[in-house]
Amino acid sequence: MNETRPESMSSFWMPFTNNRDFKANPRLLVSAEGMYYKDVDGNSILDGTAGLWCVPCGHAQPKIVAAVREMVGQLDFAPTFQMGHPAAFDLAEKLMEYTNHRFGQVFYTNSGSEAVDTALKMALAYHRARGEGSRTRLIGRERGYHGVGFGGISVGGIGPNRRSYGPLLPGVDHLPHTHNIEKNAYSRAEPEYGAHLADELERIVALHDASTIAAVIVEPVAGSTGVLIPPKGYLKRLRELCTKHGILLIFDEVITGFGRLTTPFAFDYFDVEPDMVTCAKGITNGVVPMGAVFSKQHIYDAFMDCPAGIELFHGYTYSGHPLACAASLATLEVFKEQQIIENAAAMLDYWTDAVHSLKGLPHVIDIRTIGLVAGIELAPIAGKPPGARAFAAFKKAFADGLLIRTTGDIIALSPPLVIEKKHIDELFGKLAAVLKNLD
Ligand SMILES: Cc1ncc(COP(=O)(O)O)c(C=O)c1O
Repeated sequence: MNETRPESMSSFWMPFTNNRDFKANPRLLVSAEGMYYKDVDGNSILDGTAGLWCVPCGHAQPKIVAAVREMVGQLDFAPTFQMGHPAAFDLAEKLMEYTNHRFGQVFYTNSGSEAVDTALKMALAYHRARGEGSRTRLIGRERGYHGVGFGGISVGGIGPNRRSYGPLLPGVDHLPHTHNIEKNAYSRAEPEYGAHLADELERIVALHDASTIAAVIVEPVAGSTGVLIPPKGYLKRLRELCTKHGILLIFDEVITGFGRLTTPFAFDYFDVEPDMVTCAKGITNGVVPMGAVFSKQHIYDAFMDCPAGIELFHGYTYSGHPLACAASLATLEVFKEQQIIENAAAMLDYWTDAVHSLKGLPHVIDIRTIGLVAGIELAPIAGKPPGARAFAAFKKAFADGLLIRTTGDIIALSPPLVIEKKHIDELFGKLAAVLKNLD
């Protein structure tokens, strides 16, 4: 398969990548099916991360592939400004059904980042439409990841993602993160300690006044900064405080949506009702880029009360792209027919026990799990920049036929939800060997 190797790698400026290191020792994927990638040398690589958290139904899912093929031959592109196509409306109905009609409308974007910026803009415009235009502040959280748009990095809480790009949005504040290994190490599902950290919103309200705050945005489970699981009661408390102060609560479910926690969404898992939800990735099984914002009916209604004309001056050329709609409709069907969430739930105990069996291996200082997600935190290498040890594990694992993801010195696992016991055995057999042989 060597003939598919690119002649040169100099022109592609790779995202979130150490370009020089990668180009010196590339990892090239050329095909994918089910639970496995194949690399350019023909090696099979078990996908422990669903690509980038985005392939719940497994790779090359035949029904989804066929739906996209069919749509591209039928309707390659159609605008959704002042016109539409049936699949965009059909999908919206199906998505609302998938949320159990807890939301009223869906606005389409092309990525999680766009979904986040869309939700933030909607929150500001919603308050203005209701005559509360003073509500302009947005509250995020430390260690939050909300994509890479200016809105997303402003409410996000990752230093390197913000550092070079100021000035960011004004009027943004951050809740503290909830990660605490001293109190919560080796937790399964929600850890015990830390619900009181939601009360920090009261401090922020006291400082700025509720009449200036539009929305709070959090990931129900923070993924990109290393699987930070909310303490018991934390999200419910946040909901109560937002309601008390007339602040919209946005859940960024770009990674927790579509079955990751063994429920359709994290809001189902935690039984908390946000006002808006952002999602992407699994919505099309990762096959065609698509993101979305789900909004409660009252939010949409506030816009429909305004004078006749365009109600929201916002949208993307590719909002509701026919191929994305076809992929998403097929994904929802596969979720039902193949019982994707039920399979994830059936694997939960086996998965959780397998992850926690790594306790005691060299360098492991914490393991945390929720749904089919795991964070395995390693001690950093003394005298080296943070992340060096986990990145070495990532490279070793890839060479041994296993795809993991790392952030800092944390390994994050989030396999396709079609995973079976034999894959779980393979994954943790390989990962244990990597950890045992790590400097
Ligand atoms: C919680 C969350 N929000 C937003 C994003 C950004 O999504 P995208 O990369 O599709 O823009 C991500 C990506 O991983 C995410 O995890």
